[in-house]
Amino acid sequence: MTQASTQRSTIILRTISLSFFAISLGLLAWVGATLYLGKSPTGEKALIGGAFTATTHRGEQVSDKDFLGKYSLVYFGYTFCPDVCPGELQIISAAMDLSGETAKKITPLFFSVDPTRDTPEVLADYVPHFHDDMVGLTGTKEQMAKAAKTYRVYYAKAPDDAVPGGYLMDHSSLIYLMDPRGEYVRHFNYGTMPEEIAAALQEIIQ
Ligand code: NI
Repeated sequence: MTQASTQRSTIILRTISLSFFAISLGLLAWVGATLYLGKSPTGEKALIGGAFTATTHRGEQVSDKDFLGKYSLVYFGYTFCPDVCPGELQIISAAMDLSGETAKKITPLFFSVDPTRDTPEVLADYVPHFHDDMVGLTGTKEQMAKAAKTYRVYYAKAPDDAVPGGYLMDHSSLIYLMDPRGEYVRHFNYGTMPEEIAAALQEIIQ
């Protein structure tokens, strides 16, 4: 091997190892980004949503499996909520109404973060005011805590002497779109307008 060809192979080797280094860095960044967005590196399994059991506002015992086969719009809140929850549930209902045929492929789910007060009877008086297809879900404190945990929903009791029952519930207010396999597709932030949600649903759901 001449000196020139040795130099050339060294450069080639250096280029190859640099390329590997760059690819590894890219891969790391990609894994980091997908994890940050709530998806596993394979992009197949979401870290939002999962197994739950609950009682519906019609008194049926259900699990996450009962809602597979259709998309779900998932929201956590409570019926005593003075403003945020009724507003968001109205937005979900309006988005359903704007979605036409697409809405037939979606079930809106309303999980209670206040199962002590939100019995199935209380939900039965509340949920149908919003949308015929909406399913209210409650259960034991443990069941609702587990459901909230799978969706990474935060909630906490906030004592307030001025309201009946003596407390409100602080809670996060996101609307999750789950696919027919129960996997996370995207979420809508608090205050997203029904038109925007409906447009996104039309685009995602064929
Ligand atoms: Ni609320």
